[in-house]
Amino acid sequence: FAECNVTTYLLAIDQGTTSSRAILFRPDTSVAAQAQQEFPQHFPASGWVEHEAEDLWRSTLVTCHAVLDQAGAQASDIAAIGITNQRETTVVWDRKTGAAIHRAIVWQDRRTADLCARLRAEGHEPLVTERTGLILDPYFSGTKIGWILDEVPGARARAERGELAFGTVDSWLLWKLTGGKVHATDATNAARTLLFNIHTGTWDDDLLALLRVPRSLLPEVRDCAADFGATRPELFGGTISIGGIAGDQQAATVGQACFQPGMIKSTYGTGCFALLNTGTTAVRSRNRLLTTIAYQLGGKRTYALEGSIFVAGAAVQWLRDGLGIIANSAHTEPLAEAADPAQQVYLVPAFVGLGAPHWNPDVRGAMFGLTRNTGPAEFALAALESVCYQTADLIDAMNTDWASSGIAHGTPVLRVDGGMAASNFAMQRLADLIAAPVDRPVIRETTALGAAYLAGYHAGIMPAPGRFADSWRLDRRFDPSMPAETRNAKLAGWRDAVRRLTAP
Ligand code: G3P
Repeated sequence: FAECNVTTYLLAIDQGTTSSRAILFRPDTSVAAQAQQEFPQHFPASGWVEHEAEDLWRSTLVTCHAVLDQAGAQASDIAAIGITNQRETTVVWDRKTGAAIHRAIVWQDRRTADLCARLRAEGHEPLVTERTGLILDPYFSGTKIGWILDEVPGARARAERGELAFGTVDSWLLWKLTGGKVHATDATNAARTLLFNIHTGTWDDDLLALLRVPRSLLPEVRDCAADFGATRPELFGGTISIGGIAGDQQAATVGQACFQPGMIKSTYGTGCFALLNTGTTAVRSRNRLLTTIAYQLGGKRTYALEGSIFVAGAAVQWLRDGLGIIANSAHTEPLAEAADPAQQVYLVPAFVGLGAPHWNPDVRGAMFGLTRNTGPAEFALAALESVCYQTADLIDAMNTDWASSGIAHGTPVLRVDGGMAASNFAMQRLADLIAAPVDRPVIRETTALGAAYLAGYHAGIMPAPGRFADSWRLDRRFDPSMPAETRNAKLAGWRDAVRRLTAP
Protein backbone atom coordinates (compact mmCIF):
# COMPACT_ATOMS: atom_id res chain seq x y z
CA PHE A 1 0.00 0.00 0.00
CA ALA A 2 2.46 2.50 1.20
CA GLU A 3 5.20 4.20 -0.65
CA CYS A 4 7.61 3.93 2.20
CA ASN A 5 10.93 2.38 3.00
CA VAL A 6 10.66 -1.44 2.57
CA THR A 7 12.22 -1.95 5.98
CA THR A 8 9.38 -0.08 7.66
CA TYR A 9 7.40 -2.60 9.64
CA LEU A 10 4.26 -2.61 11.74
CA LEU A 11 4.52 -4.54 14.99
CA ALA A 12 1.33 -6.24 16.20
CA ILE A 13 1.12 -7.40 19.81
CA ASP A 14 -1.60 -10.02 20.31
CA GLN A 15 -1.92 -10.80 23.99
CA GLY A 16 -4.31 -13.78 24.16
CA THR A 17 -5.78 -16.06 26.80
CA THR A 18 -3.23 -18.84 26.52
CA SER A 19 -0.28 -17.16 24.82
CA SER A 20 1.27 -13.82 23.90
CA ARG A 21 2.24 -13.29 20.30
CA ALA A 22 4.10 -10.68 18.31
CA ILE A 23 3.90 -10.43 14.53
CA LEU A 24 5.95 -8.11 12.39
CA PHE A 25 4.07 -7.10 9.23
CA ARG A 26 5.47 -5.44 6.16
CA PRO A 27 3.25 -2.60 4.93
CA ASP A 28 2.00 -4.89 2.11
CA THR A 29 0.54 -7.04 4.99
CA SER A 30 2.96 -9.95 4.44
CA VAL A 31 4.43 -11.41 7.65
CA ALA A 32 8.15 -10.74 8.21
CA ALA A 33 8.48 -12.51 11.58
CA GLN A 34 6.37 -13.98 14.34
CA ALA A 35 6.86 -15.33 17.84
CA GLN A 36 4.63 -16.84 20.49
CA GLN A 37 5.01 -17.67 24.17
CA GLU A 38 2.58 -19.51 26.42
CA PHE A 39 2.29 -18.59 30.10
CA PRO A 40 0.82 -20.41 33.13
CA GLN A 41 -2.92 -20.50 33.77
CA HIS A 42 -4.00 -20.45 37.41
CA PHE A 43 -7.22 -22.13 38.58
CA PRO A 44 -7.33 -21.39 42.34
CA ALA A 45 -10.93 -22.58 42.78
CA SER A 46 -13.72 -24.13 40.70
CA GLY A 47 -14.69 -21.67 37.96
CA TRP A 48 -11.84 -19.27 38.84
CA VAL A 49 -9.20 -18.41 36.20
CA GLU A 50 -6.25 -16.08 36.82
CA HIS A 51 -3.09 -14.88 35.07
CA GLU A 52 -0.02 -13.27 36.64
CA ALA A 53 -0.11 -9.75 35.16
CA GLU A 54 3.71 -9.79 35.05
CA ASP A 55 3.57 -12.98 32.92
CA LEU A 56 1.39 -11.18 30.39
CA TRP A 57 3.87 -8.31 30.23
CA ARG A 58 7.06 -10.41 30.22
CA SER A 59 5.83 -12.82 27.53
CA THR A 60 4.77 -9.86 25.41
CA LEU A 61 8.18 -8.24 25.73
CA VAL A 62 10.01 -11.51 24.97
CA THR A 63 8.00 -12.08 21.77
CA CYS A 64 8.50 -8.47 20.62
CA HIS A 65 12.27 -8.84 21.06
CA ALA A 66 12.17 -12.19 19.25
CA VAL A 67 10.51 -10.77 16.11
CA LEU A 68 12.85 -7.78 15.99
CA ASP A 69 15.81 -10.18 16.24
CA GLN A 70 14.41 -12.53 13.58
CA ALA A 71 13.96 -9.66 11.11
CA GLY A 72 17.20 -7.92 12.14
CA ALA A 73 15.09 -4.81 12.78
CA GLN A 74 15.78 -1.80 15.01
CA ALA A 75 13.25 0.38 16.80
CA SER A 76 13.68 2.93 14.01
CA ASP A 77 12.49 0.33 11.45
CA ILE A 78 9.10 0.05 13.16
CA ALA A 79 6.55 2.62 11.99
CA ALA A 80 4.14 1.85 14.83
CA ILE A 81 2.88 -0.74 17.30
CA GLY A 82 -0.72 -1.99 17.37
CA ILE A 83 -2.01 -3.79 20.47
CA THR A 84 -4.80 -6.34 20.54
CA ASN A 85 -5.74 -8.38 23.56
CA GLN A 86 -7.90 -10.90 25.36
CA ARG A 87 -10.82 -8.73 26.39
CA GLU A 88 -12.50 -8.18 29.80
CA THR A 89 -9.56 -9.67 31.75
CA THR A 90 -9.06 -7.30 34.65
CA VAL A 91 -5.85 -5.88 36.10
CA VAL A 92 -5.62 -3.42 39.01
CA TRP A 93 -2.19 -1.99 39.74
CA ASP A 94 -0.40 0.53 41.92
CA ARG A 95 0.23 3.74 39.98
CA LYS A 96 3.51 4.40 41.84
CA THR A 97 5.18 1.01 41.67
CA GLY A 98 3.49 -0.33 38.52
CA ALA A 99 2.87 -3.62 40.36
CA ALA A 100 -0.47 -5.42 40.09
CA ILE A 101 -2.20 -5.72 43.47
CA HIS A 102 -3.77 -9.08 42.57
CA ARG A 103 -3.45 -11.59 39.74
CA ALA A 104 -5.40 -10.63 36.62
CA ILE A 105 -8.92 -12.07 36.77
CA VAL A 106 -9.54 -13.69 33.40
CA TRP A 107 -12.68 -13.22 31.29
CA GLN A 108 -13.58 -16.90 31.80
CA ASP A 109 -13.65 -16.48 35.59
CA ARG A 110 -17.07 -17.06 37.21
CA ARG A 111 -16.38 -15.88 40.79
CA THR A 112 -18.79 -12.96 40.60
CA ALA A 113 -21.75 -15.08 39.43
CA ASP A 114 -23.61 -14.57 42.73
CA LEU A 115 -23.16 -10.80 42.62
CA CYS A 116 -24.46 -10.74 39.04
CA ALA A 117 -27.45 -12.86 40.07
CA ARG A 118 -28.19 -10.48 42.97
CA LEU A 119 -27.98 -7.39 40.75
CA ARG A 120 -30.27 -9.08 38.24
CA ALA A 121 -32.75 -10.00 40.99
CA GLU A 122 -32.73 -6.37 42.14
CA GLY A 123 -33.81 -5.37 38.63
CA HIS A 124 -30.64 -3.63 37.41
CA GLU A 125 -30.13 -5.55 34.18
CA PRO A 126 -32.34 -3.41 31.89
CA LEU A 127 -30.34 -0.25 32.75
CA VAL A 128 -27.02 -2.04 32.29
CA THR A 129 -28.09 -3.44 28.92
CA GLU A 130 -29.52 -0.14 27.72
CA ARG A 131 -26.27 1.73 28.46
CA THR A 132 -23.59 -0.89 27.76
CA GLY A 133 -25.23 -3.35 25.33
CA LEU A 134 -24.07 -6.13 27.72
CA ILE A 135 -25.83 -8.32 30.25
CA LEU A 136 -25.09 -8.94 33.92
CA ASP A 137 -22.66 -11.84 33.62
CA PRO A 138 -19.35 -12.45 35.41
CA TYR A 139 -17.67 -12.49 31.96
CA PHE A 140 -17.26 -8.69 31.96
CA SER A 141 -14.73 -6.59 33.89
CA GLY A 142 -16.98 -4.45 36.14
CA THR A 143 -17.80 -7.01 38.83
CA LYS A 144 -14.23 -8.35 38.74
CA ILE A 145 -12.90 -4.87 39.64
CA GLY A 146 -15.29 -4.70 42.59
CA TRP A 147 -14.14 -8.14 43.77
CA ILE A 148 -10.46 -7.06 43.78
CA LEU A 149 -11.25 -3.82 45.62
CA ASP A 150 -13.22 -5.72 48.26
CA GLU A 151 -10.92 -8.70 48.71
CA VAL A 152 -7.42 -7.18 48.61
CA PRO A 153 -6.82 -5.59 52.04
CA GLY A 154 -6.87 -1.79 51.85
CA ALA A 155 -7.51 -1.73 48.09
CA ARG A 156 -10.79 0.16 48.17
CA ALA A 157 -9.34 2.94 50.32
CA ARG A 158 -6.27 3.17 48.08
CA ALA A 159 -8.53 3.33 45.03
CA GLU A 160 -10.55 6.16 46.61
CA ARG A 161 -7.27 8.03 47.18
CA GLY A 162 -6.40 7.67 43.46
CA GLU A 163 -3.39 5.42 44.12
CA LEU A 164 -4.57 2.53 41.93
CA ALA A 165 -5.28 2.08 38.23
CA PHE A 166 -7.58 -0.37 36.47
CA GLY A 167 -7.09 -1.64 32.98
CA THR A 168 -8.02 -4.39 30.60
CA VAL A 169 -4.88 -6.06 29.25
CA ASP A 170 -4.34 -3.43 26.53
CA SER A 171 -4.12 -0.67 29.18
CA TRP A 172 -1.82 -2.76 31.36
CA LEU A 173 0.59 -3.38 28.46
CA LEU A 174 0.36 0.26 27.38
CA TRP A 175 1.26 1.39 30.90
CA LYS A 176 4.26 -0.96 30.90
CA LEU A 177 5.38 -0.05 27.36
CA THR A 178 5.22 3.69 28.07
CA GLY A 179 6.77 3.39 31.55
CA GLY A 180 3.57 4.59 33.23
CA LYS A 181 3.23 7.68 31.06
CA VAL A 182 -0.05 6.66 29.40
CA HIS A 183 -3.12 5.25 31.13
CA ALA A 184 -5.54 4.79 28.24
CA THR A 185 -7.67 2.25 26.42
CA ASP A 186 -9.72 2.20 23.24
CA ALA A 187 -13.50 2.26 22.84
CA THR A 188 -13.79 -1.47 22.02
CA ASN A 189 -12.07 -2.56 25.23
CA ALA A 190 -13.94 0.04 27.29
CA ALA A 191 -17.17 -1.40 25.86
CA ARG A 192 -16.51 -4.71 27.66
CA THR A 193 -16.31 -3.36 31.21
CA LEU A 194 -20.02 -2.88 32.10
CA LEU A 195 -19.05 0.72 32.96
CA PHE A 196 -19.01 2.36 29.52
CA ASN A 197 -21.98 3.94 27.78
CA ILE A 198 -21.64 2.74 24.18
CA HIS A 199 -24.08 5.37 22.90
CA THR A 200 -22.31 8.42 24.32
CA GLY A 201 -18.79 6.94 24.33
CA THR A 202 -18.18 7.88 28.00
CA TRP A 203 -17.77 6.19 31.38
CA ASP A 204 -21.20 6.11 33.05
CA ASP A 205 -21.57 7.49 36.59
CA ASP A 206 -24.71 5.44 37.34
CA LEU A 207 -22.94 2.23 36.44
CA LEU A 208 -19.82 3.22 38.37
CA ALA A 209 -22.04 3.76 41.42
CA LEU A 210 -23.92 0.49 40.87
CA LEU A 211 -20.71 -1.55 40.68
CA ARG A 212 -18.91 0.61 43.28
CA VAL A 213 -15.97 1.48 41.04
CA PRO A 214 -14.24 4.82 41.76
CA ARG A 215 -13.78 6.91 38.61
CA SER A 216 -10.13 7.61 39.49
CA LEU A 217 -9.26 4.00 38.57
CA LEU A 218 -10.29 4.36 34.96
CA PRO A 219 -8.18 4.88 31.84
CA GLU A 220 -8.86 7.54 29.25
CA VAL A 221 -10.79 6.19 26.24
CA ARG A 222 -9.46 6.88 22.74
CA ASP A 223 -10.21 5.86 19.14
CA CYS A 224 -8.85 2.50 17.92
CA ALA A 225 -6.37 4.32 15.65
CA ALA A 226 -4.95 7.10 17.82
CA ASP A 227 -1.87 8.45 19.52
CA PHE A 228 -1.23 6.12 22.47
CA GLY A 229 2.23 7.49 23.22
CA ALA A 230 5.59 5.84 22.65
CA THR A 231 7.62 3.02 24.18
CA ARG A 232 10.29 3.71 26.81
CA PRO A 233 13.58 3.98 24.90
CA GLU A 234 15.27 1.34 27.10
CA LEU A 235 12.87 -1.39 25.96
CA PHE A 236 13.83 -1.55 22.29
CA GLY A 237 16.86 0.72 22.02
CA GLY A 238 14.78 3.67 20.80
CA THR A 239 11.19 4.83 21.02
CA ILE A 240 8.39 3.31 18.92
CA SER A 241 4.98 4.98 18.67
CA ILE A 242 1.88 3.08 19.64
CA GLY A 243 -0.89 3.91 17.17
CA GLY A 244 -3.58 1.27 17.47
CA ILE A 245 -5.56 -0.65 20.11
CA ALA A 246 -8.59 -2.93 19.79
CA GLY A 247 -9.93 -5.94 21.68
CA ASP A 248 -8.97 -9.13 19.85
CA GLN A 249 -12.41 -9.90 18.42
CA GLN A 250 -12.81 -6.35 17.19
CA ALA A 251 -9.29 -6.39 15.72
CA ALA A 252 -10.24 -9.59 13.86
CA THR A 253 -13.35 -7.80 12.52
CA VAL A 254 -11.02 -5.10 11.16
CA GLY A 255 -8.47 -7.65 9.90
CA GLN A 256 -11.29 -9.50 8.10
CA ALA A 257 -12.31 -6.14 6.58
CA CYS A 258 -15.89 -6.58 7.82
CA PHE A 259 -16.52 -2.87 7.33
CA GLN A 260 -19.97 -3.15 5.74
CA PRO A 261 -23.20 -3.69 7.70
CA GLY A 262 -24.23 -7.33 7.34
CA MET A 263 -20.73 -8.79 7.34
CA ILE A 264 -19.99 -11.36 10.06
CA LYS A 265 -16.67 -12.72 11.24
CA SER A 266 -16.28 -15.71 13.51
CA THR A 267 -12.96 -16.38 15.21
CA TYR A 268 -12.12 -19.83 16.60
CA GLY A 269 -9.60 -19.45 19.42
CA THR A 270 -9.98 -20.63 23.03
CA GLY A 271 -13.60 -19.54 22.65
CA CYS A 272 -15.50 -18.46 19.57
CA PHE A 273 -16.73 -14.96 19.01
CA ALA A 274 -18.96 -13.95 16.10
CA LEU A 275 -19.47 -10.25 15.34
CA LEU A 276 -22.04 -8.88 12.90
CA ASN A 277 -21.33 -5.33 11.71
CA THR A 278 -24.53 -3.28 12.15
CA GLY A 279 -23.07 0.03 10.97
CA THR A 280 -23.85 3.19 12.89
CA THR A 281 -26.90 1.62 14.57
CA ALA A 282 -26.47 -0.06 17.95
CA VAL A 283 -29.01 -2.86 17.40
CA ARG A 284 -30.63 -4.09 20.61
CA SER A 285 -30.77 -7.89 20.63
CA ARG A 286 -34.00 -9.71 21.44
CA ASN A 287 -32.09 -12.98 21.62
CA ARG A 288 -29.53 -12.39 24.36
CA LEU A 289 -26.70 -11.36 22.03
CA LEU A 290 -24.47 -8.46 23.02
CA THR A 291 -24.45 -5.03 21.42
CA THR A 292 -20.89 -3.79 21.26
CA ILE A 293 -18.54 -1.39 19.51
CA ALA A 294 -16.89 -2.96 16.45
CA TYR A 295 -14.42 -0.09 16.07
CA GLN A 296 -14.18 3.65 16.60
CA LEU A 297 -12.32 5.67 13.97
CA GLY A 298 -12.23 9.45 13.69
CA GLY A 299 -14.53 9.68 16.72
CA LYS A 300 -17.22 7.70 14.86
CA ARG A 301 -18.45 4.47 16.37
CA THR A 302 -19.43 1.42 14.30
CA TYR A 303 -21.49 -1.13 16.21
CA ALA A 304 -21.80 -4.90 16.15
CA LEU A 305 -24.00 -7.65 17.49
CA GLU A 306 -21.79 -10.21 19.18
CA GLY A 307 -22.29 -13.85 20.04
CA SER A 308 -19.74 -15.13 22.56
CA ILE A 309 -19.07 -18.84 23.08
CA PHE A 310 -16.64 -19.64 25.88
CA VAL A 311 -15.39 -23.03 24.67
CA ALA A 312 -14.30 -23.71 21.07
CA GLY A 313 -10.60 -24.59 20.71
CA ALA A 314 -10.73 -25.33 24.45
CA ALA A 315 -12.88 -28.40 23.62
CA VAL A 316 -10.04 -29.72 21.45
CA GLN A 317 -7.56 -28.89 24.25
CA TRP A 318 -9.75 -30.98 26.54
CA LEU A 319 -9.49 -33.95 24.13
CA ARG A 320 -5.72 -33.54 24.27
CA ASP A 321 -4.99 -32.57 27.89
CA GLY A 322 -8.08 -33.83 29.75
CA LEU A 323 -8.78 -37.11 27.96
CA GLY A 324 -5.43 -37.75 26.26
CA ILE A 325 -7.14 -39.15 23.14
CA ILE A 326 -5.15 -36.96 20.70
CA ALA A 327 -1.48 -35.99 20.84
CA ASN A 328 -2.02 -32.61 19.18
CA SER A 329 -4.96 -30.64 17.82
CA ALA A 330 -4.20 -31.57 14.18
CA HIS A 331 -5.14 -35.18 15.07
CA THR A 332 -8.75 -34.15 15.76
CA GLU A 333 -9.73 -33.87 12.11
CA PRO A 334 -8.67 -37.37 10.89
CA LEU A 335 -10.09 -38.89 14.07
CA ALA A 336 -13.44 -37.10 13.66
CA GLU A 337 -13.63 -38.14 10.02
CA ALA A 338 -13.40 -41.78 11.13
CA ALA A 339 -16.40 -41.43 13.49
CA ASP A 340 -19.43 -43.67 13.02
CA PRO A 341 -22.05 -41.41 11.36
CA ALA A 342 -24.88 -43.52 12.77
CA GLN A 343 -24.07 -42.46 16.35
CA GLN A 344 -25.60 -39.23 17.59
CA VAL A 345 -23.17 -38.19 20.31
CA TYR A 346 -23.41 -34.62 21.61
CA LEU A 347 -20.91 -32.74 23.75
CA VAL A 348 -22.27 -29.63 25.44
CA PRO A 349 -18.92 -28.05 26.41
CA ALA A 350 -20.23 -25.91 29.26
CA PHE A 351 -16.89 -26.24 31.13
CA VAL A 352 -17.22 -22.66 32.40
CA GLY A 353 -20.98 -22.30 31.98
CA LEU A 354 -22.66 -21.28 28.74
CA GLY A 355 -22.32 -17.93 26.97
CA ALA A 356 -24.68 -16.56 24.33
CA PRO A 357 -27.55 -17.02 23.91
CA HIS A 358 -28.02 -18.97 27.18
CA TRP A 359 -25.84 -17.00 29.65
CA ASN A 360 -25.86 -19.63 32.30
CA PRO A 361 -22.73 -19.37 34.49
CA ASP A 362 -23.66 -22.28 36.76
CA VAL A 363 -24.30 -25.10 34.30
CA ARG A 364 -21.40 -27.51 33.59
CA GLY A 365 -20.58 -29.69 30.57
CA ALA A 366 -22.11 -33.05 29.63
CA MET A 367 -22.13 -35.68 26.90
CA PHE A 368 -25.27 -37.27 25.53
CA GLY A 369 -25.94 -40.35 23.40
CA LEU A 370 -23.04 -42.54 24.60
CA THR A 371 -23.22 -46.26 23.76
CA ARG A 372 -20.80 -49.19 24.09
CA ASN A 373 -19.65 -48.37 20.55
CA THR A 374 -18.69 -44.80 21.38
CA GLY A 375 -14.94 -44.25 21.25
CA PRO A 376 -12.32 -41.54 20.72
CA ALA A 377 -13.45 -40.86 17.13
CA GLU A 378 -17.00 -40.04 18.23
CA PHE A 379 -15.64 -37.84 21.04
CA ALA A 380 -13.51 -35.94 18.51
CA LEU A 381 -16.46 -35.47 16.16
CA ALA A 382 -18.72 -34.37 19.04
CA ALA A 383 -16.11 -31.78 20.10
CA LEU A 384 -15.81 -30.29 16.60
CA GLU A 385 -19.55 -30.38 16.05
CA SER A 386 -20.22 -28.71 19.41
CA VAL A 387 -18.41 -25.65 18.08
CA CYS A 388 -20.48 -25.72 14.86
CA TYR A 389 -23.78 -26.13 16.73
CA GLN A 390 -22.97 -23.24 19.04
CA THR A 391 -22.10 -21.07 16.03
CA ALA A 392 -25.37 -22.12 14.38
CA ASP A 393 -27.28 -20.95 17.48
CA LEU A 394 -25.50 -17.58 17.31
CA ILE A 395 -26.08 -17.12 13.58
CA ASP A 396 -29.78 -17.95 14.03
CA ALA A 397 -30.06 -15.36 16.81
CA MET A 398 -28.17 -12.80 14.72
CA ASN A 399 -30.34 -13.36 11.67
CA THR A 400 -33.47 -12.90 13.75
CA ASP A 401 -32.17 -9.70 15.39
CA TRP A 402 -30.89 -8.43 12.07
CA ALA A 403 -34.16 -9.13 10.24
CA SER A 404 -36.13 -7.17 12.86
CA SER A 405 -33.66 -4.26 12.98
CA GLY A 406 -35.20 -2.55 9.96
CA ILE A 407 -31.74 -1.94 8.46
CA ALA A 408 -31.63 -2.73 4.74
CA HIS A 409 -29.22 -5.57 4.06
CA GLY A 410 -28.31 -8.40 1.70
CA THR A 411 -27.43 -11.99 2.58
CA PRO A 412 -24.95 -12.08 5.49
CA VAL A 413 -21.46 -13.35 4.70
CA LEU A 414 -19.53 -15.37 7.31
CA ARG A 415 -15.75 -14.97 7.33
CA VAL A 416 -13.82 -17.34 9.58
CA ASP A 417 -10.38 -17.28 11.18
CA GLY A 418 -8.49 -18.64 14.18
CA GLY A 419 -6.93 -22.06 14.75
CA MET A 420 -9.94 -24.23 13.95
CA ALA A 421 -10.54 -22.41 10.64
CA ALA A 422 -7.52 -24.35 9.32
CA SER A 423 -9.58 -27.56 9.45
CA ASN A 424 -11.37 -28.16 6.14
CA PHE A 425 -13.52 -30.80 7.80
CA ALA A 426 -14.65 -28.48 10.62
CA MET A 427 -15.36 -25.59 8.23
CA GLN A 428 -17.36 -27.82 5.87
CA ARG A 429 -19.37 -29.11 8.82
CA LEU A 430 -19.89 -25.51 9.94
CA ALA A 431 -21.26 -24.51 6.50
CA ASP A 432 -23.50 -27.60 6.57
CA LEU A 433 -24.90 -26.86 10.01
CA ILE A 434 -25.48 -23.12 9.52
CA ALA A 435 -26.78 -23.80 5.96
CA ALA A 436 -24.79 -20.86 4.58
CA PRO A 437 -21.43 -20.36 2.86
CA VAL A 438 -18.33 -19.96 5.01
CA ASP A 439 -15.42 -17.89 3.62
CA ARG A 440 -11.85 -18.47 4.75
CA PRO A 441 -9.30 -15.78 3.86
CA VAL A 442 -5.73 -16.28 2.66
CA ILE A 443 -4.38 -14.33 5.66
CA ARG A 444 -5.60 -16.09 8.77
CA GLU A 445 -3.63 -13.90 11.21
CA THR A 446 -6.58 -11.53 11.09
CA THR A 447 -6.48 -10.44 14.74
CA ALA A 448 -2.86 -9.31 14.56
CA LEU A 449 -3.41 -7.89 11.07
CA GLY A 450 -6.30 -5.79 12.39
CA ALA A 451 -4.08 -4.35 15.14
CA ALA A 452 -1.25 -3.68 12.67
CA TYR A 453 -3.70 -2.06 10.27
CA LEU A 454 -5.06 0.30 12.95
CA ALA A 455 -1.52 1.37 13.90
CA GLY A 456 -0.52 1.71 10.24
CA TYR A 457 -3.64 3.69 9.42
CA HIS A 458 -2.88 6.10 12.23
CA ALA A 459 0.75 6.35 11.05
CA GLY A 460 -0.48 7.17 7.53
CA ILE A 461 1.11 4.15 5.88
CA MET A 462 -2.06 2.09 5.48
CA PRO A 463 -5.00 3.20 3.34
CA ALA A 464 -8.55 4.06 4.44
CA PRO A 465 -10.77 1.06 5.37
CA GLY A 466 -12.43 0.86 1.92
CA ARG A 467 -9.13 0.36 0.12
CA PHE A 468 -7.79 -1.96 2.78
CA ALA A 469 -10.95 -4.09 2.26
CA ASP A 470 -10.00 -4.54 -1.41
CA SER A 471 -6.88 -6.42 -0.31
CA TRP A 472 -8.91 -9.18 1.45
CA ARG A 473 -8.37 -12.43 -0.49
CA LEU A 474 -10.47 -15.60 -0.37
CA ASP A 475 -8.57 -18.83 0.27
CA ARG A 476 -11.59 -21.12 0.10
CA ARG A 477 -15.38 -20.96 0.25
CA PHE A 478 -17.21 -23.85 1.93
CA ASP A 479 -20.72 -24.28 0.52
CA PRO A 480 -23.33 -26.20 2.50
CA SER A 481 -23.97 -29.66 1.11
CA MET A 482 -25.71 -31.57 3.94
CA PRO A 483 -29.31 -32.63 3.17
CA ALA A 484 -31.77 -30.39 5.07
CA GLU A 485 -33.32 -33.43 6.76
CA THR A 486 -29.98 -34.54 8.24
CA ARG A 487 -29.14 -31.01 9.33
CA ASN A 488 -32.50 -30.49 11.01
CA ALA A 489 -32.27 -33.81 12.84
CA LYS A 490 -28.74 -33.04 14.07
CA LEU A 491 -29.70 -29.53 15.23
CA ALA A 492 -32.79 -30.87 16.98
CA GLY A 493 -30.59 -33.38 18.84
CA TRP A 494 -28.21 -30.61 19.91
CA ARG A 495 -30.99 -28.33 21.11
CA ASP A 496 -32.53 -31.18 23.04
CA ALA A 497 -29.17 -31.88 24.72
CA VAL A 498 -28.79 -28.21 25.74
CA ARG A 499 -32.39 -28.12 26.98
CA ARG A 500 -31.86 -31.23 29.11
CA LEU A 501 -28.72 -29.74 30.61
CA THR A 502 -30.08 -26.28 31.34
CA ALA A 503 -33.64 -27.23 32.40
CA PRO A 504 -34.26 -26.08 35.98
O1 G3P B 1 -13.72 -12.01 25.21
C1 G3P B 1 -12.63 -12.88 25.35
C2 G3P B 1 -11.80 -12.93 24.11
O2 G3P B 1 -11.37 -11.65 23.78
C3 G3P B 1 -10.68 -13.94 24.26
O3 G3P B 1 -10.15 -14.27 23.05
O4 G3P B 1 -8.64 -15.41 21.50
O5 G3P B 1 -7.86 -14.98 23.81
O6 G3P B 1 -9.62 -16.67 23.37
P1 G3P B 1 -8.99 -15.41 22.95
